[in-house]
Amino acid sequence: MHEAEPLDEETGSITAPIFETSTFGFTKAEDVPLAVSGQKGYTYSRWDNPTVVRLERKLAALEGGGDAAAFSSGMAAISTSVLSFLKKGDHVLAIRDLYGGTYALLHDILPGIGIETTLAETEDFGALESGIRGNTRVVYVESPTNPTLKLVDLGKAAKLAHGRGALLLVDNTFASPINQNPMEFGADVVLHSATKYLNGHADLIAGAAVAGRATTHKIKMMRRDLGGTLDPLPAWLVLRGMKTMALRVRQQNLTAMVLAEFLSKSKKVAKVHYPGLKSHPQHALAARQMRGYGGMLSFEIQGTMKDAMRFTESLRVAILAASLGGVETLVSQPANMTHTQMTSKERAKTGIPDTLIRVSVGIEDADDLVDDFRQALAAV
Ligand SMILES: Cc1ncc(COP(=O)(O)O)c(C=O)c1O
Repeated sequence: MHEAEPLDEETGSITAPIFETSTFGFTKAEDVPLAVSGQKGYTYSRWDNPTVVRLERKLAALEGGGDAAAFSSGMAAISTSVLSFLKKGDHVLAIRDLYGGTYALLHDILPGIGIETTLAETEDFGALESGIRGNTRVVYVESPTNPTLKLVDLGKAAKLAHGRGALLLVDNTFASPINQNPMEFGADVVLHSATKYLNGHADLIAGAAVAGRATTHKIKMMRRDLGGTLDPLPAWLVLRGMKTMALRVRQQNLTAMVLAEFLSKSKKVAKVHYPGLKSHPQHALAARQMRGYGGMLSFEIQGTMKDAMRFTESLRVAILAASLGGVETLVSQPANMTHTQMTSKERAKTGIPDTLIRVSVGIEDADDLVDDFRQALAAV
């Protein structure tokens, strides 16, 4: 994966230089307009920065886009991208199973500024179809979803959006570009919390939007003014993290499958959600749409919320923590961590019972993880 990693012209350095500067000086005044218009050179690091641009080129190559915009968080990427295409009176159609922050943006924030939103049942594509309107400008989906691991048929969603002149935005954080490239199925913008698999080491917050050149330009113009640009130092760390992403994610795919199969056989587990299992209701779609089934799974403990809490605190290898996509296995209980923006009624409607546990599988030995989960289940 050497895209956008040229040897440094001056020194031959095989790693990208970190241009940790807020601004860029000029010796010729006539160069200023060229830099300001983006034709040549740089002006100010909230607009563009050479280290960040290297990351953006690599992201574009990985997702099959024309360009990319890097952000200071996944939510900055999502909110800035969504706002790039909307004005008062427009409509956004989305699935109901969304990351908590995205849910708050679509359900609470956008309606407050005159943008209507509809959240359709995720499993039922007909619900999405019947939700589209003449003023729908954005169709927004995640696949697989957080934390329920439901899938959306991306090809059908793209057709639906394009039929009404709307754009399809896909949050590809859970799959990672190693397992799925939504643009292959017609997505217009691919969004990432780069905090997760792209960086892979749970040591920074970053985000990205990948799209065609003209669409990315639009997003970058909005980013200039809203200001959620990524700083060069974390951009360099994401570039470094991405060098091992393929190895990490392939291992995570394998271990997640082992863990999902183990949990499916446990009497203490009521249900396992993993697209790689043949029992997953959308396994056939996953096999068509994804190259690997991912390192994320969730399961329901047989019992109460307290039993689920007992399980999470009994783990010794896996860590009870929010977030995902790093080298350490993390577990979380969405009802009291990532999905607190929803009421318990809304969570129940989305299939997030209080006993649901989400697992982000790391790169530990698979047998160690299975042993850890076995002993923690025994403690319930
Ligand atoms: C699927 C998904 N999208 C977006 C985000 C937001 O990313 P960030 O925390 O980097 O802002 C998250 C964070 O957990 C996520 O899981």
